[in-house]
Amino acid sequence: MLIGARITGVGAGIPKSVVTNYDLEKLVDTSDEWIRSRTGIITRHIVQENESNAKLAIESAIDAIGYADVNPCDIDLIIVATSTPDNLYPSTACLVQGAIGASNAAAFDLEAACTGIIYALTVGHQFILTGTYKKVLVIGVDVHSRFLDWEDRNTCILFGDGAGALLLEQSPGDNEILSTYLRSDGSRGHLICIPNSNSSFPREGIDQPVAVKRFLKMNGRAIYEFAINAIPDALNEACQKANISVSDIDYLIPHQANQRIIDSVANKLKIESHKLISNVAEVGNTSAASIPLAIWQALKNNQIKTNSICALVGFGGGLTWGASIIKWTATDKRLNPI
Ligand code: ACO
Repeated sequence: MLIGARITGVGAGIPKSVVTNYDLEKLVDTSDEWIRSRTGIITRHIVQENESNAKLAIESAIDAIGYADVNPCDIDLIIVATSTPDNLYPSTACLVQGAIGASNAAAFDLEAACTGIIYALTVGHQFILTGTYKKVLVIGVDVHSRFLDWEDRNTCILFGDGAGALLLEQSPGDNEILSTYLRSDGSRGHLICIPNSNSSFPREGIDQPVAVKRFLKMNGRAIYEFAINAIPDALNEACQKANISVSDIDYLIPHQANQRIIDSVANKLKIESHKLISNVAEVGNTSAASIPLAIWQALKNNQIKTNSICALVGFGGGLTWGASIIKWTATDKRLNPI
């Protein structure tokens, strides 16, 4: 029998602390009007000192496991997509594994910036299709607030912190992850980057060791141009692989970086506004978490109907981009006990 995979759970971990555009007006030379009109962002959630990347990831994991009503001991693999981990090691995935009691799971992090969740979903899907694993938890989590220069108005207004999780399960004979598509272009990696503060190799007698904290740097206009081309490329390729056309998509769930990017791409692809899933206004750009968080929010708003065809499309640092076409059939077991 053919082995397929389906998504059975979704979860969120969102810090309680909210930072508004008006709060940012007190930090940098900006305005609520500028931020809203250029990005669509109104608020974002930011971690406090006692919160961490792993804490948000664990919250999202527990939520997704509850949604799917799965015993943590039955999870075979945990993949965490993050570019802002608390440690170089232990990985966030191992911290999640320990915290949720997934005693039989392998665990590792992967890094593909904001496209990370599409990469993690693709890797998890492969493990299921080969028959290696039956239950894979994929999490996207980022705490960019810890890596932002809060004096740089070009970047600090864009990002929020958060985690989103998806549980993938083997589904005999029925594959609901209809396609995945991944790309990268390292030659343009400098357009958005966070150097690792501890990783410089100073030339002896010439350079001073770099001990200063280094922040996210971005060429906003170039990333905007990249995004409005990368999304259609990924979407068209993923649709082709799934043997559907763009007009068959019920919901477009793009990386939530900027409402202008989402609207411009939808316009270019002739995707009607009622098919767009967006929560960028409330949470800002949560990087690897943004797609599962958008799904989670849309389900809360009764926006995604069972059996809908959803296109998840990511783009971000690396540069990386990619997409996955899925059929959504998961229901919250806490609300619908069998
Ligand atoms: N408040 C007020 N003015 C600002 C601000 C701000 N927060 N930030 C920039 N400006 C100024 C600039 O300094 C510039 O002034 P100047 O003309 O005097 O030099 C002016 O506003 C216009 O700047 P632009 O860069 O042309 O503004 P643009 O309309 O392109 O919007 C933005 C900037 C929002 C960053 C846009 O380029 C964008 O969204 N790019 C994509 C960014 C993105 O999505 N990054 C993340 C993707 S990858 C990932 O998620 C990791």
